[in-house]
Amino acid sequence: MASQLSAYVTDTAPGRGSLRPARSWLHSDAPSLSLNGLWRFRLSPAVPATEDLAAEGFDDGGWDDIPVPSHWVLQGDGAYGRPIYTNVQFPFPIDPPHVPDENPTGDYRRHFDLPAGWSEAERVLLRFDGVESLFKVWVNGEEIGSASGSRLAHEFDVTSSVRPGGNVVAVRVHQWSAASYVEDQDQWWLPGIFRDVTLIARPAGGIEDVWLRTGFENGRGRVETEITADAAAFPVTFRLPELGIEQVWATAADVAPLEVDGVEPWSAEQPRLYDVTVSTAAESIALRAGFRTVEIRGDRFLVNGRRVVFHGVNRHETHPERGRVFDEEHAREDLARMKRFNVNAIRTSHYPPHPRLLDLADELGFWVVLECDLETHGFDKVGWAGNPSDDPAWREAYLDRIRRTVERDKNHPSIVMWSLGNEAGTGGNLAAMSAWVHARDAGRPVHYEGDHAGEYTDVYSRMYASVLETEQIGTDGSRRPLMNCTPAQGARQRTKPFLLCEYAHAMGNGPGALDQYEALVHEYPRLHGGFVWEWRDHGILTTAPDGTPYYAYGGDFGEVVHDGNFVMDGMLLSNDVPTPSLHEFKAVVQPVRFTFDGDDVVISNLRHSADTSDLRFRWRVEHDGTLVESGDMEVPVVAAGGSARMPLPRIPVAQDAETWLTVDAVSAVSTAWAPDGHVIATAQLDRSARRPVPGVRPETDWRRSDGTLTLGIAEFVDGALVRLAGRTVAGPRLELFRAPTDNDEGASEEVEESDAGIAGVSNADLWRRDGLDRLTTRRLSVERTAEALRTIDKVSAANSALSVTVETVWSLVGGELELRVEIEPSRGWLTVWPRIGIRFDLPDGAAPVDGAEWFGLGPLESYPDSLRAARTGRFSSTIGDLSVDYARPQETGHRSQLRELTLTSGGADVLRIVAFPDTRGRRPGFTLSRHTPQQIPRAGHAYELPGSATSHLIIDAAQHGLGSRACGPDVWPEFALRPEARTIRLRIAAG
Ligand code: GAL
Repeated sequence: MASQLSAYVTDTAPGRGSLRPARSWLHSDAPSLSLNGLWRFRLSPAVPATEDLAAEGFDDGGWDDIPVPSHWVLQGDGAYGRPIYTNVQFPFPIDPPHVPDENPTGDYRRHFDLPAGWSEAERVLLRFDGVESLFKVWVNGEEIGSASGSRLAHEFDVTSSVRPGGNVVAVRVHQWSAASYVEDQDQWWLPGIFRDVTLIARPAGGIEDVWLRTGFENGRGRVETEITADAAAFPVTFRLPELGIEQVWATAADVAPLEVDGVEPWSAEQPRLYDVTVSTAAESIALRAGFRTVEIRGDRFLVNGRRVVFHGVNRHETHPERGRVFDEEHAREDLARMKRFNVNAIRTSHYPPHPRLLDLADELGFWVVLECDLETHGFDKVGWAGNPSDDPAWREAYLDRIRRTVERDKNHPSIVMWSLGNEAGTGGNLAAMSAWVHARDAGRPVHYEGDHAGEYTDVYSRMYASVLETEQIGTDGSRRPLMNCTPAQGARQRTKPFLLCEYAHAMGNGPGALDQYEALVHEYPRLHGGFVWEWRDHGILTTAPDGTPYYAYGGDFGEVVHDGNFVMDGMLLSNDVPTPSLHEFKAVVQPVRFTFDGDDVVISNLRHSADTSDLRFRWRVEHDGTLVESGDMEVPVVAAGGSARMPLPRIPVAQDAETWLTVDAVSAVSTAWAPDGHVIATAQLDRSARRPVPGVRPETDWRRSDGTLTLGIAEFVDGALVRLAGRTVAGPRLELFRAPTDNDEGASEEVEESDAGIAGVSNADLWRRDGLDRLTTRRLSVERTAEALRTIDKVSAANSALSVTVETVWSLVGGELELRVEIEPSRGWLTVWPRIGIRFDLPDGAAPVDGAEWFGLGPLESYPDSLRAARTGRFSSTIGDLSVDYARPQETGHRSQLRELTLTSGGADVLRIVAFPDTRGRRPGFTLSRHTPQQIPRAGHAYELPGSATSHLIIDAAQHGLGSRACGPDVWPEFALRPEARTIRLRIAAG
């Protein structure tokens, strides 16, 4: 018995029994009955020896209740096992197609009453929209069939097993099966019936399937209708009421393409949909047609004849409490948020989403790359030996997967490309899938990144190509061979449109360089943009031992093998909060661009096809961040691809403050995703009058000093600052360390000529090796004059001969306290540095420092290679809100290009700091945090950070860039911080 059962579990066949062919997910008026709700449930740690659950009279009284849809590991508070997170690794031995005997198996049962009148139905179907990973079904004790393909739909014919009145359905679900080898996507393993279960009555004379193949050319729409129905179902009526179209086809042979005049095309920007019904006497199907033609012409990817640029994201179905269980309201809000952040495309990584998601994408407007449920990445570990992608035993399973993918979703205008899957190596089965798609749907190209040599796919796709490499793909001039390509294959790839199916790995704090990728897209038309990895973190809400709620990642559930926080790489945190990277993305890809030219601004419309009639333009002038004037700018309607040159408004320039002009393009109408007035694009122009930076007055007559000294608001003991404005302060001390970001911890083997790092070693490791996190100080001298104090320190780390000399000069200049710090590295530092800064520690007294107001870049954090969302202005924040709650605590909160900073306590000013630019005009940044850079990395999650009674202010002369080396390229050289001499100069006053 046991061996029979394991043979079934390890069978590579995608399904058995009365499985029906795949068809569209249709909105039909035929009766259906949702079987969602509570089912009886029993979990066994291994495949049970019998199929006792099947028997009609089986007593499931001792079982539990579980909701369907759900994942059992997210139910019952751990009673049914825990989620497992792996990226590439298989969480079971690589022994295909076998899986361990310890194979958690969930048995489900429920009763249902067949609705009265269903006996008229010609057929009754039982539909499962998603079950992970292999399941078997019985109705009233009869075996119906089995299926695998977790994120794919399966319909069984249960006509001969159901009966009027009460019925019982039983389902056995195995967590592991042969199918697990081809579902090795980077995500949580979440078993169970996690999408809808529906009983469907199919009427005699109904429509089995319908496909509206739409096109839009030369201002005309076209629809070819494919109807799958019995001959007896005819006549069929096609109605498009908005355009007054009603077409009756008497027989299948009469069904003909319709040319439709006066239609507006569908695009992601203007998602124009038309209601259509296709009906017989017995059934009516409601569809929404969008007219568009997808086409590849040379190396261009076009929709309706115009080049598409993907400003996309990879979207997984993930929710902190529901896992991959779909929630329409949440999904709609998520998509609306994408639109608000200028996202125009979605890759459904790495499987078809819940079918309703595509309705939302049609309606809100996205270019969608719809991906099949397929990944075999774990075979990489064994040099791809035995990879199912090239094994004939798996051919039918692969074909079944792509058929189910394409057939289910083929009616959606938003889908402009099919993707065969992700990271499944290469091989004949993938080529066979592609051939099947080409034969079935000539209207959409085939994508698969793993087809590096371009043998069977239509677009050239890569993931995480560096800026340098992306540029080389864009140009014909480069002789550099393309990855894994012979010269001839490379030449072929260069004839195709290129896209980055994944780029800009948004793990933790990062990515940098979004703007560099964007610039390439506008330089090289072959480059069609890409899809950021990824939209959101996959954290699972759970509680720490002390009851604190937090978002768990790999390892938090005691997994045997796992990949830690690699699943937390979204531009959105698990709790839906956009990270600064999403704001950066929005700013970088904004569809309207402003170029200032003398007294004019040139407004360019980079949209695919929409003009700017839905926008209005505003401007405002600020003096040192304070609003002085604002107004609207009259801009003529700019067609897609066009631009308009407009005179700037008159700008009052201040003599004693900075003068900045800000222009915004905002929506003039409210949409399904944003209210009127929503900002879609912004730019700033610096119109400041030149103002000299006061020079440094050199002190002479220095003499050795000790004892106490007071300089204005500063009090010193033995050369050390002890109080500022009566408040206890320690510092300034040299701070070269930052709590490593996930990108700083990245240790990729692939390094570019442009990279700062060393192959296989993370920058963070080099920093720790050099002791940047454990610097010690030796004071060389303390000297004073009547109005100044000077210390010289040598700062270095244990077991290192490298050092930094720090000269600190406090002085009173016209009664104001000035601090100047000269930082000079010794020779011999070989790595990049995370920062060059000075730190002040402000222990909480009666009135703790708990906030900041500043004039500089804001409102959110910014770094040298992620500055585009930041604008110059005046901002304020509580200390807590200055930091981002990245899933794993790390560097956060840096505000660049500081001019003035006021530390506040309960809203009252405590200390006011003016920061001068250095002699090269470079301005410092600041960070205010409850924790030091040394404390932060000791915590794996925010709840592990110690309670803190101190505020730490770091003024940085410079910070290292972010890059995206957690999975991708290192920081670009221009933004990599090399050890170098720097000056920090501040004026400090009491609040
Ligand atoms: C890619 C993969 C994604 C994800 C990403 C890193 O290789 O396709 O699924 O793992 O890397 O986060």
